[in-house]
Amino acid sequence: MKIYIKNIREADCVCDALVLPSAEKDTTFHENLHPSISSLIKRLFLKEFSGKQNEVLLLPAPDDIKAERILLVGLGRKDQVSAEKVRQAGGKASGYLRDMGMKSIALSTVALSSFKISPSVFIEGALLGLYKFNRYKAGNNNRKIDGFTLLSKASKGLDEELKWAGTLCSSVNFTRDMVNTPANDMTPTHLAKAALSLKGKKLTVKVLEAKDAKKLGMGAYLSVARGSEEPSRFIVLEYKGTKAAPVVLIGKAITFDSGGISLKPAESMEKMKYDMAGGAAVLGIFKAVSELELPVHIVGILPATENLPGGAASKPGDVIRTIEGKTVEIINTDAEGRLVIADAIGYAKRFNPRLIIDIATLTGACSIALGNEAMAMAGNNGELLDKMRESAHNTYERVWEIPLYEEYREYLKSDIADIKNSGGKNGSLVTSAYFLHEFTGDVPWAHLDIAGTAWVDKEKPYIPKGASGIGVRLILDLLRRL
Ligand code: BES
Ligand code: MN
Ligand code: ZN
Repeated sequence: MKIYIKNIREADCVCDALVLPSAEKDTTFHENLHPSISSLIKRLFLKEFSGKQNEVLLLPAPDDIKAERILLVGLGRKDQVSAEKVRQAGGKASGYLRDMGMKSIALSTVALSSFKISPSVFIEGALLGLYKFNRYKAGNNNRKIDGFTLLSKASKGLDEELKWAGTLCSSVNFTRDMVNTPANDMTPTHLAKAALSLKGKKLTVKVLEAKDAKKLGMGAYLSVARGSEEPSRFIVLEYKGTKAAPVVLIGKAITFDSGGISLKPAESMEKMKYDMAGGAAVLGIFKAVSELELPVHIVGILPATENLPGGAASKPGDVIRTIEGKTVEIINTDAEGRLVIADAIGYAKRFNPRLIIDIATLTGACSIALGNEAMAMAGNNGELLDKMRESAHNTYERVWEIPLYEEYREYLKSDIADIKNSGGKNGSLVTSAYFLHEFTGDVPWAHLDIAGTAWVDKEKPYIPKGASGIGVRLILDLLRRL
């Protein structure tokens, strides 16, 4: 989809549809538009359209303006218009117009600028909302919007905002593609290939095989990989935009989680292809950072493997040794995410990180507690968590903090090892994070459990059903502001 900027009046733009975002019962914004547009809107506000959030109304345009049609899209209450409302309107309006077969769209920026919101936010909603995953469907329909024209004065600022939005969205969609891809085509080897495809001047990629991981003593990671015939890959990326100590991003990358010997029930097991969503988000972040050449130093770690119940799989009761020497009793082979992340944290420390962020589809309890609406967050550094909350506010990728009270340590006490990998059902959202905390020590660290948000079963205004690509926008915003 192409994006143009044209400094012409609404009435003069030739296009299939002219989009007019409008707040609820806001009759003032259109007063300066062409008289036949403003009188049309005035009459619609009587009944047909009230401007409720994401409400859309498509009309044939009056004869004396050049657009074929007008689309009104609601921004909700005037005193509550925000970037997120505009992002949603962008997703909703563009999806609707695409499905109606429209090709060329123009966007009036009059109302948006009265709310001091950049039209790039609307475009962000559109680029995210128009995403479709149809790699596996024959004769996929070719309804596609060709171009979006912003009716606005050109400026360097706007160009930069649009470039940021474009890169952001293509990175989120890159992540979504990987997560939506079935596990037979998104193996650890494929993930490594995707990582290698990002290589660049400042971006290096190193891929460790099981034998390398063995030499390093990653007994926890390897205990998960043992159950599968599919070769594991421990993927390490580094982008060096500055000489400062790096921020390490660890993404859970279980390309399929059957549960292992502690096998999951068949129902919904097919969804466990998305157990690599954290790792895919980290790759999306690296793609954006290197395309935008951000002045940051980041290391990405994806401990990639399948979790299967093969003949060599680890068994409940086994005790393994992690990279830093701590022993773990495996109570439940389905609590595999924390095992692979524990070794990734140990490996991360070799970089003397400024801070560590892990992002993982870690627990079913996370979806149960928060549904699709927020990720669970934990950590050992108030300042970092505050920054994360600010980014959550900026991006609407929301986080909710869970506590790491020291009493939770009891839940993970093992009779024969330093720690066990499951504290049972009670408090399992927290104890999973607490387990990771035992490995981070004092390194500033934030944990994001995205089990509930990485996959949506019902589409949202700019998130089609399936992989959401969550985490990419959140962490990029954080990196930008660190
Ligand atoms: N990958 C799952 C968590 C998950 C469940 C993600 C549903 C997305 C949707 C994780 O590896 C897991 O199985 N966790 C267990 C831990 C338990 C055995 C302590 C869980 O949450 O049931
Ligand atoms: Mn599991
Ligand atoms: Zn898992």
